[in-house]
Amino acid sequence: MAQIIDGKQVSRQVRERVSAETEKLKKKGITPGLAVIIVGEDPASQVYVRNKEKACEEVGFYSEKFALPENTTQEELNALVKELNERKEINGILCQLPLPKHLDDKEVINLIDPIKDVDAFHPVNVGAIMIGDYNFLPCTPAGVMELIHSTGVDVSGKKAVVIGRSNIVGKPQAMLLLHENATVEITHSKTVDLPSVTREADILVAAIGKAKFVKADMVKEGAIVIDVGMNRDENLKLCGDVDFDDVKDKCSFITPVPGGVGPMTISMLMQNTLTAAKIQNNIKD
Ligand code: GUN
Repeated sequence: MAQIIDGKQVSRQVRERVSAETEKLKKKGITPGLAVIIVGEDPASQVYVRNKEKACEEVGFYSEKFALPENTTQEELNALVKELNERKEINGILCQLPLPKHLDDKEVINLIDPIKDVDAFHPVNVGAIMIGDYNFLPCTPAGVMELIHSTGVDVSGKKAVVIGRSNIVGKPQAMLLLHENATVEITHSKTVDLPSVTREADILVAAIGKAKFVKADMVKEGAIVIDVGMNRDENLKLCGDVDFDDVKDKCSFITPVPGGVGPMTISMLMQNTLTAAKIQNNIKD
């Protein structure tokens, strides 16, 4: 049986680190501030936003939530982002996605001042990640890297395979693995003979959004398996992209769902907000 990577524990360690640094900043009169915008009533988004507010409270940040009605216009949303760009006590701005269909998420992301873009979704920050000279790492891929580091296994020289090519996870995940000298392959729905590729992976990251898609015959003996998925199975039970019970005896480390990658994402958002506050206040250490 593989060792289970405890995302809750690693996440707690990140938050403790952020909390301790926040206390030091507060002694200098600086409180990191995060603004979270949510438009409409999507229940999953409501839960995420509530958890982000709770995390801010836990680490000692100032947070402000902007819950806008479903019929908000693009102009109204844009005006709010512009106002938040100007406010000194707001260091990070996050617009919860997905937005209602009549709103353009790209337009909003492009309006956020890159130095306040704690999601690292702005093209300037995406480009910075590509060249390895960044302020913010995208939260989910950064959380995955923390989980991999927690195993004590050195990423350098390992073969890493990412399943999924989204802008939020798959693509930046591949970059972060590459920055640590993994040999990386990105796979997707058009990949021919996917199992033959994933079976080569020392590190396998699944981010495709298909319940229990990764089976034991797709996994190399002794691999590290990281499951970014968050799905419902046939009994509506929460499950990942990896068939945990099928894979757990074949790999060396595995993340559970829930309790793996999920708790990390918000902790990395806290880390980014702290970084944003430090940069905006010219604090170097
Ligand atoms: N919706 C789902 N995940 C995320 C995320 O990481 N950031 C934002 N802004 N919206 C999301």
